[in-house]
Amino acid sequence: MQIAIDGPAGAGKSTIAKLAAERLGFIYIDTGAMYRALTYLVLQKGADPHDEEGVFRIQQAMDLQLEPGTGTTACRVLVDGVDVTEKIRHPDVGKLVSIVSRHGKVRREMVALQQKLASGRNVVMDGRDIGTTVLPKADLKIFLSASVEERARRRLAEFMQKGHGLTLDAVIAELKQRDHIDSTREVSSLCKADDAVEIDTTDLSIEQVVERVLALVVRRENGVQGP
Ligand code: DC
Repeated sequence: MQIAIDGPAGAGKSTIAKLAAERLGFIYIDTGAMYRALTYLVLQKGADPHDEEGVFRIQQAMDLQLEPGTGTTACRVLVDGVDVTEKIRHPDVGKLVSIVSRHGKVRREMVALQQKLASGRNVVMDGRDIGTTVLPKADLKIFLSASVEERARRRLAEFMQKGHGLTLDAVIAELKQRDHIDSTREVSSLCKADDAVEIDTTDLSIEQVVERVLALVVRRENGVQGP
């Protein structure tokens, strides 16, 4: 069974995907981590994130390994053999990842790799284009949304925990910019698949969202389509 979870930054995708995968005994694949890993390398090399050919060359030479999470553990990401799981969460990477992930050539390679990782496995995969492009035949497609203020509050809490000092206004501005770039890019933009079920998580607890997702899984297992 393949479960696709899409939505904007901070809507709760990775938290929900991880917990749902754990309850179901499925693997969890965080596709944002793959774009973040490439962005990290682009930064490391001092390359221009706007230069599609330059970024693509770095991607071609990069050895990217993603070890799927098992629910309690996050996906581990290795770039050229080095564990960058924590480093790719740095705000500097977050600022540029939408630029890097906008390039069509870059996306084609990433999508192929993601399809290979998911092939023949019980998987919960989260991202922006999973239900529309990566796994268009997924058994269950979820689109998570939440108000930008709530998403910013969640992101800020994560940053504070890691000791990055940012203001709420700065996080709101960054999320708005990222939403704009992710939704207006030409290739695989962030949008809800026609057959996805939208869950607005603004006023829901994590547990409530997970319960809703698991209930939808049961419906699909029983052959029931729709929300
Ligand atoms: O989920 P995240 O915030 O870690 O994702 C980081 C960025 O990667 C996001 O701003 C857009 C991009 N992304 C994408 O374009 N397609 C995906 N399937 C996943 C992420």
